[in-house]
Amino acid sequence: MSNSHAKRFTFSTFRAARVTGEKVSMLTCYDYTTAKLMQEAGVQILLVGDSAANVILGHNSTIPISLDFLIELTAAVKRGAPNCLVVGDMPFGSYHESVAQGVKNITNMVKLSGCDCVKIEATASHLKLIRQAADAGVAVMAHLGLRPQSVGILGGYKIAGRTADEAMAIVELAVQMQEAGAASILLEAVAPEVAEAVVQATNVPVIGCGAGPACHGSVVVMHDIAGLTAQPPRFAPRMGDLAAPMKEIFAEYATRIAKGEYPAAEQQYEMPADERAKFLRRRFEAERSKHQPPEVSGPW
Ligand code: KIV
Repeated sequence: MSNSHAKRFTFSTFRAARVTGEKVSMLTCYDYTTAKLMQEAGVQILLVGDSAANVILGHNSTIPISLDFLIELTAAVKRGAPNCLVVGDMPFGSYHESVAQGVKNITNMVKLSGCDCVKIEATASHLKLIRQAADAGVAVMAHLGLRPQSVGILGGYKIAGRTADEAMAIVELAVQMQEAGAASILLEAVAPEVAEAVVQATNVPVIGCGAGPACHGSVVVMHDIAGLTAQPPRFAPRMGDLAAPMKEIFAEYATRIAKGEYPAAEQQYEMPADERAKFLRRRFEAERSKHQPPEVSGPW
């Protein structure tokens, strides 16, 4: 039986997961076609992450991706998966100048992409922004723990909340986010005890990304579980190897072309027989007239 959900997965269904104990599945997604497949497969939340900078654009961090590009991708994902809860990611620089700039860009993301929620990598300095966005009616997912947009200052992608002080700070920040109006928390790369404490201290749904089993759901980058990345993080289980069959298809295509096997007769279009005959006759006459000796006229 198909696991696809014909019913929309809304924010109230997401919130209910705290009560029902149903674990929520969330995957990153960056295009219409894959979004359709994910919806059909029963994935409930699709995150159009700024990890598109890595897996789609080939950068070595999430920093360079633009808001316009992420809006386009998010709109495509929403078109492909209208029943999933689609989360648009706010890229580096799109909410750091001022609260006004952040609110403008967040509302643009919602308006232009049709997403159901926006995610920001949040620190205490974003509490005012979260309050204003929430007041404007936007569901904000506050991304805490490891924040890849801060890779510069962190000096690499490291586990967050390793000391008791740091762990306590994450729990306190999660509570502040909720009080400011965040509709959900995303916790990246923290120990399970830290995630459990955040789940206990808050009353919004908490998604883990390398945060252990206490969260209400989990997210990973789809390329990591599908075998499309060379070095997936430890918390992303490899669930298949899409790279091998894709490479086989590409190699087969190149070989068929090289051997002249493609396009074969069944991959070609046909003209109506009478038009074809007319066309070939005209081409023949045109070619023949090119090779006729020029008419010579003289005074004799
Ligand atoms: O951009 C992204 O893909 C993310 C997740 C991995 C949490 O932020």
